[in-house]
Amino acid sequence: MRYFVPHPIPYQGSKRRLAQAVLSYVQAGRFRRLVEPFAGSAAITLAAARHQKCERYLIADKLSPLIALWRDILQNPSPIADEYEELWYRERTRPIAEFYEIRTEFNRDQRPAKLLYLLARCVKNAVRFNPSGEFNQSPDKRRTGTRPDAMRKELNSAHRLLHGKTDAICIDFLHLFQTSEVGDFFYLDPPYQGTSGGRDPRYIGGVTRELMIEGLMILNERGTPFILSYDGSCGDRTYGDRLPANLARRVLLDVGRSSQATLNGKDHVTIESLYISHDLAPAGVDETVLTLQQFDLPPVVTESLF
Ligand SMILES: C[S@@+](CC[C@H](N)C(=O)[O-])C[C@H]1O[C@@H](n2cnc3c(N)ncnc32)[C@H](O)[C@@H]1O
Repeated sequence: MRYFVPHPIPYQGSKRRLAQAVLSYVQAGRFRRLVEPFAGSAAITLAAARHQKCERYLIADKLSPLIALWRDILQNPSPIADEYEELWYRERTRPIAEFYEIRTEFNRDQRPAKLLYLLARCVKNAVRFNPSGEFNQSPDKRRTGTRPDAMRKELNSAHRLLHGKTDAICIDFLHLFQTSEVGDFFYLDPPYQGTSGGRDPRYIGGVTRELMIEGLMILNERGTPFILSYDGSCGDRTYGDRLPANLARRVLLDVGRSSQATLNGKDHVTIESLYISHDLAPAGVDETVLTLQQFDLPPVVTESLF
């Protein structure tokens, strides 16, 4: 059996493929609230709500128009769907040129519907910001982006799944960690960061390895269980440095061949690490390699968009 899980915000780095693995550590009813401090498209929150894992959800991110977009989806998605439709048809009148117009407008007015439109229309659905914080990703010249009717369906489904039990907040992750509550479970997917600082140009904020370690120490001190996606490898390329073993156990997920590698005719297998807090995973799982098929939840499908 496969489940439909809405995924209204196209977002590079979405962890929807990993949802079945992450959520297999979250028994329904064990945690009152699931918190996603680097939410982006909130793929894990949406999948958790679909499987009724928790009573409450908290979507958090440092990118403020993204959180404004989530708030609109949670309260009433119709105006966002209407505005998205207007923007999508507006670009049909002057393809590409209108994308750039809308991008300039967004950098001035930060309207959430414009961010949604830019994400759906830009290369690899990837946010990119210049050093002044302006969205500067280019349009995808081969595709037109999610059609308005499909987008409306996704927005409405996400609303139905989350409203009444979900909050959205724009906050830096370290501040949020300091407010964790008894009964919380945190899923963490920070932007990739090398060891020696330097901002990841993809995202509005960056997270150094040192700050991540500080954050995990805070969660451990507060007794807040977490799962963190961090380092990994693709073929013979590795990314990220292993975090100290005292902070959490690490399992390795073999997620198969990446779509990019397949396109390039390569046979590269992607391994994604999951750092699991000590209370969630038994001793002895460290460095185990698991495949997605080993998890008991059915795979998540997001057929209308991808
Ligand atoms: C890899 S993406 C998360 C993708 C997400 N897991 C999903 O499924 O779509 C990382 C996110 O962290 C956010 N971010 C970057 N720095 C941050 C910070 N200091 N505090 C909170 N969020 C931050 C970015 O805006 C981005 O949305």
